[in-house]
Amino acid sequence: MPLFEAARQARENAHAPYSGFKVGAAVRTEGGQIFAGCNVENVAYPEGTCAEAGAIAAMIASGARRIVEVLVIADSPVPVTPCGGCRQKLAEFADGDVKVTLAVLSGPVGSITLAELLPGAFNTDHLEPR
Ligand code: THU
Repeated sequence: MPLFEAARQARENAHAPYSGFKVGAAVRTEGGQIFAGCNVENVAYPEGTCAEAGAIAAMIASGARRIVEVLVIADSPVPVTPCGGCRQKLAEFADGDVKVTLAVLSGPVGSITLAELLPGAFNTDHLEPR
């Protein structure tokens, strides 16, 4: 489970002193590469970033662009789903049928597609001139 392991390891490095809630995320690209991220909080609370954003940033910095699978992990009674903003961030680089696996420390719990998480995503169609 390389995606799970990458997200699990990244989560351990999360900087979450304010919420105490560490999150890890990993994305697999169409080229088969895996990039992971963790939440990075800030004393100026709104400046904190989510684990998914970190994984996306790592992917983009490497030159990859298309996400074919996502996994998010946290230590919570109910598995974490990406926040609203991260759903839109993922939609920038992933199709609606991309599987988002939700995991806790003991392993994956279930999965859902990005389109199920974000129906009606804002997209380039909305930018066409009228
Ligand atoms: N968080 C993530 O990193 N990803 C999510 O999908 C949900 C929330 C982080 C943000 C904040 O650092 C902490 O979890 C508590 O909200």
